[in-house]
Amino acid sequence: MHLNSSMEINEKGHLTISGCDTVELKKQYGTPLYVIDENTVRSNCKKFKTAMDKYFDNGRVMYASKALNNKAILKIVTSEGLGVDVVSGGELYTALQAGISPDKIELHGNSKTEEEIIMAVENQIYCIIADGFDELDLIEKVCQRLNKKINVTIRIRPNIDIHAHEAIQTAKMDCKFGFGLFDGQAFEAVKIINKSNFMALHGVHCHIGSQIFDEQPFEELANHIVDFACDIKNNLNILLDEFNFGGGFGVWYTDEDSPKDFEVFIKLINKTVIDLCNKNNYPMPIVSIEPGRSIIGEAGTTLYNVNGLKEIKDVRTYCMSDGGMFENIRTALYGAKYTAYCASKMNEKHNKLVSIAGKCCESGDMITWDTPMPESLQVNDTIAVLTTGAYNYSMANNYNRNPVPAMVLVKNGESHIIAKRQTYEYIALNDVIPDYLK
Ligand code: LLP
Repeated sequence: MHLNSSMEINEKGHLTISGCDTVELKKQYGTPLYVIDENTVRSNCKKFKTAMDKYFDNGRVMYASKALNNKAILKIVTSEGLGVDVVSGGELYTALQAGISPDKIELHGNSKTEEEIIMAVENQIYCIIADGFDELDLIEKVCQRLNKKINVTIRIRPNIDIHAHEAIQTAKMDCKFGFGLFDGQAFEAVKIINKSNFMALHGVHCHIGSQIFDEQPFEELANHIVDFACDIKNNLNILLDEFNFGGGFGVWYTDEDSPKDFEVFIKLINKTVIDLCNKNNYPMPIVSIEPGRSIIGEAGTTLYNVNGLKEIKDVRTYCMSDGGMFENIRTALYGAKYTAYCASKMNEKHNKLVSIAGKCCESGDMITWDTPMPESLQVNDTIAVLTTGAYNYSMANNYNRNPVPAMVLVKNGESHIIAKRQTYEYIALNDVIPDYLK
């Protein structure tokens, strides 16, 4: 049994997270329920912050809030000294509403809208990470209209293959993100920004993908980034202020995953960048990273109720949970794997393979396939699925008009709601019946 550092088994044989009995949490808040352990979030933030401060005089950690964008979570990560990376108007709005200082926020996105750019410029956020030529046009126009300047970093696509699921690779040649590095587009973008009176050329960015266990691709990336910066220096006599290496540091979901200490990645980025900068006589810029999953993933656990069991002889046993692809779409979308336990019977041997199904009307709506559960698993038992902090709540939806579940923050025996469960009224709120149908 793999228990995260905040997890224990209490005298009733129940799973506890940071001192909170998960069966009690189910009674108090209902299920499905996202549970986030505050101490784990904080300790992950500290690990990154400490490592960046150790290796760089000018290092920055920007939390990739697409992993979990929620006001309370943003308060926690920024109180640990991290900035916030947002990728939409909704995420930016949430961050501003949470009181995050705009100079700690950067805006990503491969298809930014005018509204999003206006929001970024009006609020004078730290920088916009530009992704295409039409976007540069739009930023220029918006800034001109508002008579405001903004920092612009350009995202490059250097054709790095990280051997991960196709859907989470973001720097291959055939990919929608960034300016091509080898076809001269990235350089062209630099020239455009450099000519502008409204865009201040700030830095270079690349995010190569997600759930990466091997540090080598970051060395390759560092080479591309510094080469590109040197090209700009040699040809245009401009120095960039920031090299941003994106996120992607892998975490544990099952025993098939062997995540490395995050410091290993940072150490290698540091060594490569320092060597190359020294060799090329390039002044050390700000170096930043954007971890998302590695901050919040293992801090999250989802609790479910067992609504029913269905044994199909010689095939498999399905356990009907009250969750599904409306609150965790990753299994259906990527074939993601999870570790699950019967939180109400932790001391019983988990030796019967059970597949935990969602309640949506799709055969592929599964939480996990073939996971060991106690022989005695029965209706109203509680199931805990681990490592659900990243990209679960943030990818939640209302398929089959299921409400997005509540999220609670636990810490040293206390629990606090940080996102309310949607109500049916909320779900139907935007529906309109035109008069002629009434
Ligand atoms: N920076 C940029 C520009 C990104 O696009 C991403 C993630 C990150 C940072 C953070 O990556 P992380 O450290 O979380 O791996 N929905 C997928 C993951 C998509 C990741 C998208 N970009 C999943 O559930 O696995």
